[in-house]
Amino acid sequence: MSTTTAINNDVANLSLAAEGKKRIEWAGRNMPVLNQIKERFAKERPFAGVRIAACMHVTTETANLMLALKAGGAELALCASNPLSTQDDTAAALVKEFGISVYARNAVDRDGYYKHLNAALDIKPQFVFDDGCDLVNVLHTTRTELLDGVIAGCEETTTGVIRLSQMAKDGALKFPMIAVNDTDTKHMFDNRYGTGQSTFDAIFRATNTLVAGKIVVVAGFGYCGKGVAERAKGLGAEVIVTEIDPTKALDAMMQGFRVMPMTKAAAIGDIFITVTGNRDVLRDEHFKQMKDGAILANSGHFDIEIDVAWLEKNAKNKNAKMRFQTDEYEMKDGRRILLIAEGRLANLGAAEGHPASVMDMSFSDQALTAEWLLKVGKSLAAGLHNVPTEIDKNVATLKLASMGAELDQLTPAQELYLNSWEHGS
Ligand SMILES: NC(=O)c1ccc[n+]([C@@H]2O[C@H](COP(=O)([O-])OP(=O)(O)OC[C@H]3O[C@@H](n4cnc5c(N)ncnc54)[C@H](O)[C@@H]3O)[C@@H](O)[C@H]2O)c1
Repeated sequence: MSTTTAINNDVANLSLAAEGKKRIEWAGRNMPVLNQIKERFAKERPFAGVRIAACMHVTTETANLMLALKAGGAELALCASNPLSTQDDTAAALVKEFGISVYARNAVDRDGYYKHLNAALDIKPQFVFDDGCDLVNVLHTTRTELLDGVIAGCEETTTGVIRLSQMAKDGALKFPMIAVNDTDTKHMFDNRYGTGQSTFDAIFRATNTLVAGKIVVVAGFGYCGKGVAERAKGLGAEVIVTEIDPTKALDAMMQGFRVMPMTKAAAIGDIFITVTGNRDVLRDEHFKQMKDGAILANSGHFDIEIDVAWLEKNAKNKNAKMRFQTDEYEMKDGRRILLIAEGRLANLGAAEGHPASVMDMSFSDQALTAEWLLKVGKSLAAGLHNVPTEIDKNVATLKLASMGAELDQLTPAQELYLNSWEHGS
């Protein structure tokens, strides 16, 4: 345990620690790549004495990332990047069983959320891990006295990367941030396979609905939308995609999905899933047409994809939490609309987020990128940067090995052929 940084916390219930520890260890079993990195960190101690503030979903998988960094010697303060995704037992275990400072309580209000971000920043971080850019935002708005001490940071999700690129464009970003979200290994595993499966896990837990034979409308056919649409198809649904980008829409068509605007899809869908990173994707003109019993879930980062305020204002009745993480809004004409996890990230609010084997990739990318930043962070310009390709390939190679797969090797003649322009066909 660090001798220089005190272990503080604001968690819901420390007596949940034993249960949290069990679940953290369970997740760890399915994170073979991160485990290998952790073992190396424990030997080499690259982060000895380095202060890191992390604003991430407080889940068992994040806990394993924290343990890998701690094994490498880091002094850590963790706060939640979303109030609904915090697992109180995980938070308790990190504090009580593993001696890590955590500021996170499930369903904390907005004020509490920002208090937690500020408490994590009190560690005076040299490096930051963010998931949605809120920590970086606080650093640049209300905690500017800490900016000089921050060397660099990593961003985990698409929405955070979008916010950071705007900051960088305006010259407002004061230190280098690495778009860990943009690695191939993260996109493929986390956004696509992770969001695809765990969004349906949330819908099942919340509604226990049968997906086969239903019409599922997926708004956005990016990395996450592809995963959601593929899983919906696999479960036997008819899938409609809504898009604003012609190439993404064409891709959806070529994969056998119907494409139409939400104004048309609204009247025929049974289940609506938003994954656009945009706002007001489902709004009054759509709610007005929806069928009785329509289910709405958002798996985009912020709770602005579904206009929940409109439902709150215009519904005749609200049956709050009529099922686990499911609110029912009864419209004036008697139709009922079901909303999962209050329109927040459904897969984290009503399920456990991605399986550990998915987060193994993102968090191995995070751990190796942080190690790389120790070496190069001070020499990088303020702004948004990509993860070096070697880290991405290294994580993919380690994962393949853990799955028992082997790569083919280039022959010398193939290597020469690929690296030369002189050869004809
Ligand atoms: N739930 C999770 O666990 C999880 C995991 C990763 C990312 N995310 C979040 O999911 C969101 C999407 O991420 P992504 O990686 O798929 O992004 P992406 O940029 O690859 O895809 C978003 C797609 O939405 C489309 N779009 C934008 N506005 C639209 C609109 N009004 N109607 C229809 N389509 C629209 C874009 O054209 C794009 O194709 C982001 O907010 C990201 O942070 C969530």
